[in-house]
Amino acid sequence: MKTHIYSRREFVGMSAVAAGASLAGKTLGPLPPNLLPDPKAVAASDRVRFGMIGIGMQGSGLLSEAIRLPGVECAAACDLYDGRHTLAREIVRADLPVTRRYQTLLDDKDIDCIVAAVPDHWHKQVVVDAVSAGKDIYCEKPMSHSAADGVAMVDAAKRTSRIVQIGSQRVSSQICAKAKELIAQGTLGELMLVEGWLGRNDPTGAWEYPPPPDLSPKNLDWDTWQGTVPKRPFDPFIFARWRCWKEYGTGVAGDLLVHLISGMMFMVGINTPPTQASAVGGIRRWKDGRNMPDVHAVVYDYDGLPVYMRLNLGTEMPEMYRIQGSKGLLEVTGSSLSYTPQSGKDQYPSYYTGSYPRALRDAYLTKWHQDNDPKMGQQVMMPETISFSGPDFDDVRPHLWTYFEAVRTRKPVVEDVVFGHHAALACHMANESYFRKTSVSWDEASKSIKS
Ligand SMILES: NC(=O)c1ccc[n+]([C@@H]2O[C@H](COP(=O)([O-])OP(=O)(O)OC[C@H]3O[C@@H](n4cnc5c(N)ncnc54)[C@H](O)[C@@H]3O)[C@@H](O)[C@H]2O)c1
Repeated sequence: MKTHIYSRREFVGMSAVAAGASLAGKTLGPLPPNLLPDPKAVAASDRVRFGMIGIGMQGSGLLSEAIRLPGVECAAACDLYDGRHTLAREIVRADLPVTRRYQTLLDDKDIDCIVAAVPDHWHKQVVVDAVSAGKDIYCEKPMSHSAADGVAMVDAAKRTSRIVQIGSQRVSSQICAKAKELIAQGTLGELMLVEGWLGRNDPTGAWEYPPPPDLSPKNLDWDTWQGTVPKRPFDPFIFARWRCWKEYGTGVAGDLLVHLISGMMFMVGINTPPTQASAVGGIRRWKDGRNMPDVHAVVYDYDGLPVYMRLNLGTEMPEMYRIQGSKGLLEVTGSSLSYTPQSGKDQYPSYYTGSYPRALRDAYLTKWHQDNDPKMGQQVMMPETISFSGPDFDDVRPHLWTYFEAVRTRKPVVEDVVFGHHAALACHMANESYFRKTSVSWDEASKSIKS
């Protein structure tokens, strides 16, 4: 089997006939359009003013990206740690209004919508309060910290008809959009199995972040930060490394698996929770007091489609999907896509016939070659792997842009509250299965996870 690496231009213009027999008659066509805006796309009168809640590791990045989008303006920012008020002003402007109370942003009639990047245990309250105050909201992934939180968030969004977009940005990746298109065209035939994995091997990758050195109860509202979780004395390590504990975070499932799940749901065209999940794992590498696993492998049943996902904070491996179908294999990374067609037919005489006595074997071989060998002058079609590899796509900016466009136009978003809920449920099921040491399923009637 040959492998070709094509440039982006060759890849997008390539005809299927040249690419391989199983694509005959189809063209791969161009990558789906980049979702990023034309800088002149928005009239000055049509500006969107957003309030930013949570200006930590992710929030500071979202804030920096959002204010570079045409017609998008940050009106105010909120965080419980004053150091992040300074940071927000450094990013936006020196006189940006800042507060510790997000309700101030929700009460402000000049703010059209919210972008929130707070720890997982605060997602539900911020989303429910925002939509109840009439604000649209972009909330970071995983949408919910528990199945029950997700149910409450869906109810609130539906009751208020506000736009909710969740921040798993794979659904705005052009690479994932191309994979989606190929799968929808039937290029892979019938889907057999989907695999996805990601690994890291360093303290930062395993969330051992250094807390800000000046952090203290004087410049942080530690009591509010803890939300409804049983209160503990001030602990800068919990503030910075909250992902390690289930009271605040959602484990590798909510931190990383959720990206694989959302991307998979988008590419394959699924918008349901898995019917069943079965997980194993453990705290194998980072024995630093955390209570969430650092290795977590999950097998899902999505209405008959097996999906096998693996997260490992002890061995580095690039994020990757292997989407397997009856007509071939599609491998997807953040910056590449590679399709290997498969005919699904025998390429050689069946090796089972080695067990025939000679006369029967010879007769079988003669007939097989008569039926299958290329005739004189006939072109032999070799299946070829078609690969596209580009720079790492920035999917955060297009994801934010989709949200601000939806706020302006009221056009629904792909990763809405229902999609976000379904993706988060897959993560909660992975965690529940790990802790209960048994497979679990989603019970729609009681809206709960059952063993
Ligand atoms: N989409 C992605 O690729 C991506 C990447 C990283 C993080 N995230 C998500 O972003 C969210 C934030 O993660 P992070 O790493 O930025 O966390 P972080 O701890 O660095 O920042 C969170 C900030 O929120 C503030 N905060 C907490 N509760 C608040 C409240 N009630 N009101 C106002 N501010 C409050 C904290 O003081 C802190 O500054 C998480 O849900 C995480 O899963 C998404």
